[in-house]
Amino acid sequence: MQPVRKAVLPAAGLGTRFLPVTKSIPKEMLPLVDKPAIQYVVEEAVQAGITDVLVITGRGKGAIEDHFDRNPELERVLERAGKTALLQEVKAPDGLADVHFIRQHEALGLGHAVSVAEPHVGDEPFVVMLGDDIMIDDAALLTRMLAVHEETGGSVLALMEVTREEISAYGALTGEVVREGVMRARGVVEKPAPEAAPSNLAVIGRYVFTPGIFGALRETQPGVGGEIQLTDAIGILLEREPVFGVTFTEGGYDGGTKVDYLRANPALGLARDEL
Ligand code: UTP
Repeated sequence: MQPVRKAVLPAAGLGTRFLPVTKSIPKEMLPLVDKPAIQYVVEEAVQAGITDVLVITGRGKGAIEDHFDRNPELERVLERAGKTALLQEVKAPDGLADVHFIRQHEALGLGHAVSVAEPHVGDEPFVVMLGDDIMIDDAALLTRMLAVHEETGGSVLALMEVTREEISAYGALTGEVVREGVMRARGVVEKPAPEAAPSNLAVIGRYVFTPGIFGALRETQPGVGGEIQLTDAIGILLEREPVFGVTFTEGGYDGGTKVDYLRANPALGLARDEL
């Protein structure tokens, strides 16, 4: 079996839930303490053994590319001033992994954004990580998901139990328990109405996919909101291949919502001795 080396980070969304700041600043670049949200996601990927990261960007997302590039002018100033620790912080994002960028020319949905990665990913299993979901768990969830992929050869989704009211903001998964914390997926519905939700297990923004997802995406028609939904492609995939879910309870912050963004900041700040 091929090892999982590549991660795809879709970051081309419009971030409407975070307006007005996202009018000119990519949601992925909003700071959590002193680092942009997307840097935590890349660090998590690297911690789980990923060496190649592809960020899906779009118009107005140039700041993300700048952040993962060098800034020789700034580096020279810090070097001359003897600010060694800061210099290391400034250089760090560029040294994390082999980071690539590709544009999704139009925000046609998360599923479409993932399909844009196909030429880069090729015929290999890969990880998809949403910058919206910040995990403060030393990559424990992603590491468990990769272990389930290695054991089964199937795709693996991250699952979190939410309330009936909350499920309408997520994809809801049905399936049966294989063992504690691991499920075999049987069906998935994007943003169901609470009364129609088939379960309260929400699919969260960490995925391990076989390349079979690209074939499923090609067959996926626009769904909720007129967008090509990744959830709908997963629905096609699980009719063809085994798909699993790994549940988690702690360490997740939905940085796409203002409340969780506010919660993540003190959590990350308090974890640092100097703060
Ligand atoms: P969201 O729907 O949460 O992101 O998509 P959004 O569109 O940026 O935010 P809202 O809903 O308007 O506030 C989940 C992830 O998929 C990416 C987003 O960048 C985010 O990481 N995405 C979404 C794309 O890359 N392309 C798209 O066409 C849609």
